[in-house]
Amino acid sequence: MGNGRVQGKVAIVTGGARGIGAEICRVLAEEGATVVPVDMAAGDGVRAMNVTDEKQVADVFDAVAAEYGRIDILVNNAGIIGPIKPAHEVEEKEFDALFSVDVKGVWLCTKHAVRHMLSTGGGSIVNLSSINGLVGGSRIPLYHSAKGAVRLMTKADAATYAKQGIRVNSIHPGVIETELAKSVSAGGSPEAAAHAQRQMEATPMGHRGAPADIAYGVLYLASDEAAFVTGAELAVDGGFSAV
Ligand SMILES: NC(=O)c1ccc[n+]([C@@H]2O[C@H](COP(=O)([O-])OP(=O)(O)OC[C@H]3O[C@@H](n4cnc5c(N)ncnc54)[C@H](O)[C@@H]3O)[C@@H](O)[C@H]2O)c1
Repeated sequence: MGNGRVQGKVAIVTGGARGIGAEICRVLAEEGATVVPVDMAAGDGVRAMNVTDEKQVADVFDAVAAEYGRIDILVNNAGIIGPIKPAHEVEEKEFDALFSVDVKGVWLCTKHAVRHMLSTGGGSIVNLSSINGLVGGSRIPLYHSAKGAVRLMTKADAATYAKQGIRVNSIHPGVIETELAKSVSAGGSPEAAAHAQRQMEATPMGHRGAPADIAYGVLYLASDEAAFVTGAELAVDGGFSAV
């Protein structure tokens, strides 16, 4: 049972079929929002939509606004990890695929949510960046670049739409137990094991987070409790970014 912290609000959550996105949907719904999960992958109550396809984004967002009268919350959660290799080994098509989902997808969904938020007097957009958008690293350099772009897109959009009542904030998860995180340390190679060990050594709390740890941060930023918060970056990372 929730406490109605987002009671009556209409929320779209991209990448809502599994992992962090699914948990965000659960928590927002528990706190009273009407939640529309969208994803490339099928799932219970999930609408099919690829965040990289502008027509699909526009059609789904228009349909949600027509059905529920408004879009109050957008959580730009869909994301992929991309190539796990140094910059000089990455293919152009791998770069394009990663930036298409992790950067262009955030922009397209923001673009079409803002259209509706402007017409109803405001809203809250929460973008999933990462601790990898705060600092660099050698294993997934393009992911760092993409998540860094999400961090600054957030601040630019926050500045742009503040007067129109649209708040835009980013959340920066540390290592969270999902399929995506497993893929970075997968394979059983000594290199992957060393990477996983380094991640835990760099995390003062010494363990991975759960999707709920991120979902409750999103809930706060999405809710009116954060009415004076825009352009902020919330690290939820077991202390990773504190040291
Ligand atoms: N898990 C972590 O440790 C971690 C850490 C930092 C940031 N993040 C970020 O959190 C977000 C969620 O990560 P997760 O771990 O839950 O990942 P996940 O892989 O478990 O889930 C991602 C979801 O996004 C969907 N998706 C991917 N591409 C899409 C597209 N083009 N259009 C629509 N949907 C698409 C997938 O189908 C999937 O359901 C991502 O943006 C990720 O970069 C995750």
